[in-house]
Amino acid sequence: MRPDLLQRLAARQRERAAAQLLRRLRVLDVDAGAEGAWVVDAGRRLLDFASNDYLGLARHPALVEALGRAARTCGVGAGAAHLLGGHRAEHEALEARLAQWLGRDRVLLFSTGYMANLGVLAGLLERDDLCVQDKLNHASLIDGARLAGCTLRRYRHADVEGAARQLDAQPQAAALLASDGVFSMDGDLAPLAELAQLCTNRGALCMVDDAHGLGVLGHDGGGSLAVAGLGQREVPVLMGTLGKALGTFGAFVAGSAGLIEGLVQQARPFVYTTALPPALAAATCVAVDLARGDAARRATLAARIAQFRAGAHARGLPVLDSSSAIQPLRVGGSAAALAASARLREAGFHVPAVRPPTVPQGQARLRITLSALHAPTQVEQLLDALRSVLA
Ligand SMILES: Cc1ncc(COP(=O)(O)O)c(C=O)c1O
Repeated sequence: MRPDLLQRLAARQRERAAAQLLRRLRVLDVDAGAEGAWVVDAGRRLLDFASNDYLGLARHPALVEALGRAARTCGVGAGAAHLLGGHRAEHEALEARLAQWLGRDRVLLFSTGYMANLGVLAGLLERDDLCVQDKLNHASLIDGARLAGCTLRRYRHADVEGAARQLDAQPQAAALLASDGVFSMDGDLAPLAELAQLCTNRGALCMVDDAHGLGVLGHDGGGSLAVAGLGQREVPVLMGTLGKALGTFGAFVAGSAGLIEGLVQQARPFVYTTALPPALAAATCVAVDLARGDAARRATLAARIAQFRAGAHARGLPVLDSSSAIQPLRVGGSAAALAASARLREAGFHVPAVRPPTVPQGQARLRITLSALHAPTQVEQLLDALRSVLA
């Protein structure tokens, strides 16, 4: 008899629950009356240490104003895919703004970072090709290679020699090496200069997903490529997201005119989907100007990161080796991570537990993210709470 898919789904749910791996949707509201990084959970105010709004732009009055103003003229939705009448002047303006900021020939907007990664990898790679990736890359990069149907070979985290071995295993195949710039669950930076050099030596195309570096790191917030001093020549494919440090929603791919024109033709997650709301593109233009120009915001964030790290070391907390806004504390088991997260909630902090399969088995953690919105006293309060919860 044919298996019942819904019964199987229910069985998987039970397995997950037994292993403390069930994910739960929580309704968290923003605290409309309060400035800063506050959320409201069932009527209780919590300090939010989970958001990727690293620069505190998501509720910035200039962005909210730009969104409203643009919506009043061009409406809320684009109404169609980019190629079928949904492409507006606001999209063009944002693409030009991003290209200019990042020193790239052209930019193409996507509706999400997940779709951008699927679009690039499945648009570029064919069955006989090779895709080489860091084991800790974001799921969307892994899924993009799977969708392309090419050979996917993964190397040990940040292991450039391992990456070389994977490329050398198929020296005749057209190849793309993809890496997160800042790893989303560990917060560390990829060895981008070495990876880019490896790609040059082996004739592979280098792609970086800088979802968590853009706006946060480097001169003008140019991201992990700016830190490594790499441009379009060394890393021809750059993916960035708009829903993290830029505070809005969506994503983009930046590179040569040839790359972008090819993606317009071949990237199915670009072709077959409704365009990003144009008002959101207008608001994101303002976000780019703020992220690029407001060095003080970035300096505040850097100071909070330094404060957190120094405080964590002083308290003997098991903080990972990360210089970015992502500062995870490895707890180990899933049950322990869930319990720590729950105790932090009781103490007034929203810090989620991240468990397998998002992270490897036995490496469940508290994923703490810092923001320019956090005050120094709030960081100290979190550190004290972490010490008592993890004691
Ligand atoms: C490294 C990385 N790439 C891509 C994505 C996907 O971006 P989006 O949320 O815009 O789909 C994320 C996070 O969501 C991410 O952390």
